[in-house]
Amino acid sequence: MEVIIRPDADAAAGLVARIIAKELRANPHLVLGLATGRTMESVYRVLVRMHRKGGLDFSLCSTFNLDEYVGLALSDPHSYRHYMNEHLFQHVNVELRNTHLPNGQAPDLDAECRSYEAAIAKFGGIDLQLLGIGRAGHIGFNEPLSAFKSRTRVKALAPLTLEQNAEFFGGADKVPRRAITMGVGTILESRRCLLFATGAEKAGIIAKAVEGPITSMISATALQLHAHCTVVVDEAAASCLEGSEYYRRIFATEPEWEEFRNLD
Ligand code: F6R
Repeated sequence: MEVIIRPDADAAAGLVARIIAKELRANPHLVLGLATGRTMESVYRVLVRMHRKGGLDFSLCSTFNLDEYVGLALSDPHSYRHYMNEHLFQHVNVELRNTHLPNGQAPDLDAECRSYEAAIAKFGGIDLQLLGIGRAGHIGFNEPLSAFKSRTRVKALAPLTLEQNAEFFGGADKVPRRAITMGVGTILESRRCLLFATGAEKAGIIAKAVEGPITSMISATALQLHAHCTVVVDEAAASCLEGSEYYRRIFATEPEWEEFRNLD
């Protein structure tokens, strides 16, 4: 795992977008795993700008989102399909038929989960998986006690997640109780993971995810087992990390990060 600390949320989002853009330029057929949520909005803004002003080309790439609420129509403004259309897909030249999210309205949800896994496999697996982190440490909607070997499945949302997403639905009681989510095992099979978090409210959970003991109570700790996981945080989200001096030195001196320095 490598941890990159940027001075503020915009600089951190810019770095995440540049990492994605570099992978996409190196492999135009990239299979990109995507996440939703407040934190990702700034990353998608930068990617849209890079497409418009820098010609970043999404025409050959495919995408797989981590999750979708059960019971919401694709057109529902709260659905993650709607979120992705609004924040990214309709502003770049990705082929909509190559964008995938689980269908939360499928009549047979277990079959839907199996076919989502099959689709990921058919596309050759995920090359780069973008991840946010919930305040209780979920990645995707892998709530506490998600097995590290879990695959795409229906998951009941934890109380903290309902609370975290309440403002979008006008109250925690209105948030769907279940979601389809890639499993921790599905995520760990991605060739590279890119976890992005900003803000002081994520500082405690980031420290646990990165430096704490591995536990299924905090799904994000599973990323410590991944061979190529990059964590990008702003100063606020980094404020509880014990090893930040070491992480800063790696970013400041290691050759692989040279092209990403001096961008703020
Ligand atoms: C969303 C997802 C979640 C979010 C996480 C952080 O697709 O998978 O794990 O990334 O809940 O959400 P925000 O950014 O809203 O704090």
